[in-house]
Amino acid sequence: MVKIDVPAYVENQELIEWVTRMAEHCRPEAVHWCDGSQEEYDRLCQEMVERGTFIRLNPEKRPNSYLARSHPSDVARVEDRTFVCSISKSDAGPTNNWMNPKEMKAILNAKFDGCMRGRTMYVIPFCMGPIGSPISQFGVQITDSPYVVVSMRIMTRMGRRALDALGQGEFVHCLHSVGMPLAPGQRDVAWPCAPDPKDKYIVHFPEERAVVSFGSGYGGNALLGKKCLALRIASVIGRDEGWLAEHMLIVGVQSPDGRKDYVCAAFPSACGKTNFAMMIPPKPFRDEGWRITVVGDDIAWIKPDEEGKLRAINPEAGFFGVAPGTNYATNPNAMETIRANTIFTNVALTDDGDVWWEGMDGEPPAHLIDWQGNHWTPGCGRKAAHPNARFTAPITQCPVVDEHFDDPRGVLVSAFIFGGRRSAVAPLVLQSFNWAFGVYMAATMGSEMTAAAFGNIGEVRRDPFAMLPFAGYHMGDYFSHWLNFGRSIPEPPRIFSVNWFRKDEAGNYLWKGFGENMRILKWIVERARGRSIGIETPLGWQPRYDDIDWRGLEDFTREDFARVMSIDRDVWLKEIASHDELFFKLYDRLPKEMTFIRELLVSNLWRAPEKGRAYPERLEPPKPKPS
Ligand code: OXD
Ligand code: MN
Repeated sequence: MVKIDVPAYVENQELIEWVTRMAEHCRPEAVHWCDGSQEEYDRLCQEMVERGTFIRLNPEKRPNSYLARSHPSDVARVEDRTFVCSISKSDAGPTNNWMNPKEMKAILNAKFDGCMRGRTMYVIPFCMGPIGSPISQFGVQITDSPYVVVSMRIMTRMGRRALDALGQGEFVHCLHSVGMPLAPGQRDVAWPCAPDPKDKYIVHFPEERAVVSFGSGYGGNALLGKKCLALRIASVIGRDEGWLAEHMLIVGVQSPDGRKDYVCAAFPSACGKTNFAMMIPPKPFRDEGWRITVVGDDIAWIKPDEEGKLRAINPEAGFFGVAPGTNYATNPNAMETIRANTIFTNVALTDDGDVWWEGMDGEPPAHLIDWQGNHWTPGCGRKAAHPNARFTAPITQCPVVDEHFDDPRGVLVSAFIFGGRRSAVAPLVLQSFNWAFGVYMAATMGSEMTAAAFGNIGEVRRDPFAMLPFAGYHMGDYFSHWLNFGRSIPEPPRIFSVNWFRKDEAGNYLWKGFGENMRILKWIVERARGRSIGIETPLGWQPRYDDIDWRGLEDFTREDFARVMSIDRDVWLKEIASHDELFFKLYDRLPKEMTFIRELLVSNLWRAPEKGRAYPERLEPPKPKPS
């Protein structure tokens, strides 16, 4: 029988009992209680170097940083193996995989029986959100993966400090195994996992506030604080307690007068959230004193304070960002963040012990070792880094981390932004008429696929609130929760939608994006502050050309603007008709507001101009009243 060796400082009885039960069931060789210290982190990294899981990068180039290469079967979240096992199937809704919790537990019990043989079981107490915040939540993850331990140390507030703050309190139970027990004498592999996709299970028990994950060591499948706790389980806790757990970044927008507004923005995966979260404004804006600071790049928890004002925290403490495409032009702040103390997964290794990926600055090196450990040369026809290769780095290393990132009170939310990737249809920016219209806009968000993993490339996937893979309950109830939430606060923040990805007929982007998005953000913040004007269109409020600050981008003409803003009536009538596909799926729990707003939008559209005309440009600017 394995010795549990509970450290004297562990007082939480439920935790001790749970760890004891799990150790008996999973039968590890040893149990280690993580204290979260630097010494522990360094020791585990060194052990992984010795075992071949980690390659230590050149300390001159990338101090204290490591490269891991996953098994080729274990490179991304596995949505088709992700389950929400609520007691009732209808509570999971049609957009989640469901199984009866009893049946699922029988499967998992068998899988976990002895699954940690030959390995160490690590106990990771963690806090999602600043320690001491009324918005934060505790979790404890049991895992047999040291890669998970060191990643969780970057991504969460982890170890002794979390445990001390937890005391006898409640925590979300997160159980994880890579699913590859070792027989006596069996040599381990660099990246243990269950290679057959059917052996992977990412399972949520929302009523029990518990997560069980088997067979994968990668990202959102294995770092259970992230998508599993902070979104799927927390969305259910938020529904029950009256707050929001959202797939949103949080940025501070500071204007030259020193005032700062915080904006939460939801974009589906692969729409450049990390880039937006650390954007560098164009030079004239910077010179004038505009600053963007980052509170979070992926998840926001939002609760009303005593005055009914919305306060947001980032439950995470690190970035788990996509490496390919990141460079000093697209995201200099990310490049600075990952200069040291970073774990890279599935990127390529250079001959001088540094990392490389497609889209990094400069010419591709003449020789690399690719993400699968093979020799690579330019033109060999293979990608050097996996397209979903990642960096894991502490948020505190980001040059533009917000001063309130760790503030237990959170930051006040001034506006919500929702955006998808649409090469046509959606204008660059829109402000919804009110909260309920905003909920409709967010509920019907769509994004074109950039990778074949989730559909055909170019096809639009409806991704309501960018939460399709992350809502832990029925999506119709989720819309109702948003509607109720807006009704319960005195001054709900304004809601905007954006689309950075509009293209012309030849497939060229009509908008440069990246730092230029600051121009749109400035209009949004000014609208949220009740300044700046806009014009009413059938779908919401839009800026006119002259409402946007074009300093430094004077060659973006009125015609260019008209193209990127245009609302085409016929295209939009089709778009709105296509919303029914999602609505019909959710029909028994779809809030009635969705149907009524849809009708209102259709009736508005009948006053839109004929095809191809930019709606706002048809209207004259308001004439000054004769005095
Ligand atoms: C992520 C995702 O990795 O949304 O953040 O897929
Ligand atoms: Mn995400």
